[in-house]
Amino acid sequence: MVHSLPVDLDPQKLPKHIAVIMDGNGRWGKQRGLPRIMGHQKGVDTIRNILTYCQDWGINALTVYAFSTENWRRPPTEVEFLMALFEKVLCREIKIWAQKGIQIRFVGDLTSLPYSLQEEIQKSVVQTEQNTGIQFTVATNYGGRQELVQACQAIAQKLQPEK
Ligand code: FPP
Repeated sequence: MVHSLPVDLDPQKLPKHIAVIMDGNGRWGKQRGLPRIMGHQKGVDTIRNILTYCQDWGINALTVYAFSTENWRRPPTEVEFLMALFEKVLCREIKIWAQKGIQIRFVGDLTSLPYSLQEEIQKSVVQTEQNTGIQFTVATNYGGRQELVQACQAIAQKLQPEK
């Protein structure tokens, strides 16, 4: 089913890029008397829906802020669940996303993620890099401070005199 644009939305004024900070997953579960992890599962459904709407409405870039550097401070069981969920989602969805022409990319420091997740991320990036549809960026282990440090390091690297 294709979702047509609601009549009160002007197609000329639609953004070209939407960024979503995932928040409130735990509260969503709590409000319904469910464990927080159910809220995270629901968050994945929501991302899937947003991707479909972006596709139907012609919005070509979606960035999702999925896991910040601060999120490591959560209880270990929740962090473990989230890492496993990431991996499961990538394994399960990537074929569908690839068929839809979605190009998936990741930003953030991926080196501290479980190795199996890093592998899955790498596979999904390679599998979809030629796609020309929605550019779907997942910010994982991201942090504003860390991004500034990395940008400065990259600039400093470029400014180094050649040996
Ligand atoms: C914030 O809700 C959400 C997170 C910290 C994790 C969200 C990530 C996923 C569901 C995995 C998505 C996977 C892919 C590949 C896109 P919260 O726990 O801060 O909710 P709260 O504010 O109610 O506590």
